[in-house]
Amino acid sequence: MSIVIAVDGPAASGKGTLARRLAAELGYAYLDTGLLYRAVGVEILRVAADPADEAIAADIAREFCISEMNFADPALRNETSGHVAAVVATHANVRAALVGLQREFARNPPGSAPGAVLDGRDIGTIICPGADYKFFVDAAIEVRAGRRAKELREKGDPSIYSRVLHDMKERDLRDRTRKIAPLAPAADASVIDTTNLSADAAFALAMSLIK
Ligand code: DC
Repeated sequence: MSIVIAVDGPAASGKGTLARRLAAELGYAYLDTGLLYRAVGVEILRVAADPADEAIAADIAREFCISEMNFADPALRNETSGHVAAVVATHANVRAALVGLQREFARNPPGSAPGAVLDGRDIGTIICPGADYKFFVDAAIEVRAGRRAKELREKGDPSIYSRVLHDMKERDLRDRTRKIAPLAPAADASVIDTTNLSADAAFALAMSLIK
């Protein structure tokens, strides 16, 4: 049986950085599950469909096969795909279409890795409720917006902090209040607040909890 580590949290909380480092340190496979929802969003935009159209979004999601997806596509990482992802992620049929892939990745990690680290919003609550370790990474929204604005500026997007903060509040609200699989810590998750914690310190804390 593979060891499963669930890392959940809101946007720009540091969950991706932590999850990637844990996977690298432990030699586990890593899946950024947000990319699955983003990929649905990118495809919806490509076919000029309405992200609110649940049937089309679910049809797109049902076609996915993790081993064939191009996670390096830069379109998956921009703000537009993040917003559309948050909309399609509210559809029950989209979530249902993506559950199996994620559980299979956790059960049988690619490359015969001894374990898997999955990061997202509902890994510890819905996708892998029996995960061996669960972390919920959070930070004050002003700090998260500051990180995201800096990241965007480094990519050449002259992001205005107030716009990023506004967008992030909107996305947080959507993720936390949606009816299906809302963003919330699992009852047995260790909460890591990165408001005043460096990436190194968060990693060290998570490793100490695993050991
Ligand atoms: O982590 P991210 O910013 O790439 O995620 C984009 C959106 O996808 C996020 O706003 C909500 C959705 N998502 C989700 O509903 N469940 C997940 N496990 C991962 C992401």
